[in-house]
Amino acid sequence: MAAALLQAPGVQISGCRVQPQQQSSGGSSSSSSSTTLVAGQSSRSVVLSSAYFGRSKFVARRLWIDKASKKEFCVLRTKKQQQGVQCSVADSSTIQDSVATTQLIPGSEKTPEGVECYGVFCVTYDLKEIDEQKPKTWKKMLRVVVSGAAGMISNHLLFKLASGEVFGHDQPIALNLLGSERSRDALEGVAMELEDSLFPLLREVNIGIEATEVFRDADWALLIGAKPRGPGMERADLLDLNGQIFAEQGKALNAVASPDVKVLVVGNPCNTNALIALKNAPRIPSKNFHALTRLDENRAKCQLALKAGLFYDNVSNVTIWGNHSTTQVPDFLNAKINGKPATEVITDRKWLEEEFTPRVQTRGGALIKKWDRSSAASTAVSIADAIKSLVNPTPKGDWFSSGVFTTGNPYGIADDLIFSLPCRSKGDGDYEIVPDLQIDNYLYERIKKSEKELLAEKKCVAHLIGDENGYCDLPEDTTLPGEQ
Ligand code: LMR
Repeated sequence: MAAALLQAPGVQISGCRVQPQQQSSGGSSSSSSSTTLVAGQSSRSVVLSSAYFGRSKFVARRLWIDKASKKEFCVLRTKKQQQGVQCSVADSSTIQDSVATTQLIPGSEKTPEGVECYGVFCVTYDLKEIDEQKPKTWKKMLRVVVSGAAGMISNHLLFKLASGEVFGHDQPIALNLLGSERSRDALEGVAMELEDSLFPLLREVNIGIEATEVFRDADWALLIGAKPRGPGMERADLLDLNGQIFAEQGKALNAVASPDVKVLVVGNPCNTNALIALKNAPRIPSKNFHALTRLDENRAKCQLALKAGLFYDNVSNVTIWGNHSTTQVPDFLNAKINGKPATEVITDRKWLEEEFTPRVQTRGGALIKKWDRSSAASTAVSIADAIKSLVNPTPKGDWFSSGVFTTGNPYGIADDLIFSLPCRSKGDGDYEIVPDLQIDNYLYERIKKSEKELLAEKKCVAHLIGDENGYCDLPEDTTLPGEQ
């Protein structure tokens, strides 16, 4: 069985010129073989073209450097599988007449299962930074991983990411989409829609079901996929079930993501899931892990604006303290409306305590009653907002809410939790916790209650975060916003 390059000279495949270089002998794709691939150049990028490797026709498309061995690998892909093969790629200076060669190194097969490029994105990857081929102002490509990619939230989010509205219109991105075996067809459907949307900034779409492959080189990981609580399931069961997913994903991020990857956990219970991911990813700074509470902040802003009879862009400085659950504390004390304390504009303290607060805490449940499913579009918008808050400087004097790692926080919240706090950013993806907010007795008691709940959740997942003496004794009011 010869492993040989079987294309005829000049064959056009998916818009790239294919030029066979040599015949080579070898066995099946799992045995040692030597093949030369030829790259053609499409309008903006160098792409590797098709070749036969073993008995299968592959499209070679992606190059990565194995950090440990410093070796280059190309991904070869067929419709059904893909394979990593050690290769060397001619640098851009040796690319002549739109052709570059990639030499596969014999006997170097390595099989990264579970991730594959999709459709048109298999032939448009920028193999090397060829500046003259790209708009001069574009930044280096960002790789964004999305789990639960075939779900409703992602269906809204992915198109925002691909359009440039989140990371900026000068920021090309690669999307790595993680699904499950069950959602494989739906994942392909999402990729097809992304293809058909012709987003110029979207340079790659990869789909797969193995976190250890899909998370490779991730700059951002948006962890949306989680199991909903099923009938008869105790909350402790949900913590354990989803906790296992996030432990595995934390490990995968630790193994293959960029060392400075920013992680935003959306799947519920998101604070504790984020803590589990963090604890399973010791290589990644703890500060890089977030749990989404921006949705709650947006809900709080909307309610304050409604009560004040103003549009919501007049409302700022809204903090959500604590857990993304019904113990969360939407802070009206430090909030501002038109730059003035919200409590001076809305003087009805009873309303703030007894109507505003529970309305925000239980908004998720109110939505589920209407829709018969969890919020999706507004969650996607709030994920976009949360990212934008980290990649753009926070307006002077304002802040945003995010569930962040508590160790060393200025509010005396117990260390080693993921707790929603007021944050501000310089726009570099990093943030600092805003100190010195006013905490009165009302806020203090509620913040403590949410802290207690998170400490109890942490005990329940002790087995997933390397803690000893775990036991699960959740306070009665431990519920997600959607559970009442
Ligand atoms: C939301 O806040 O809309 C969701 O987290 C609701 C839920 O409990 O799933």
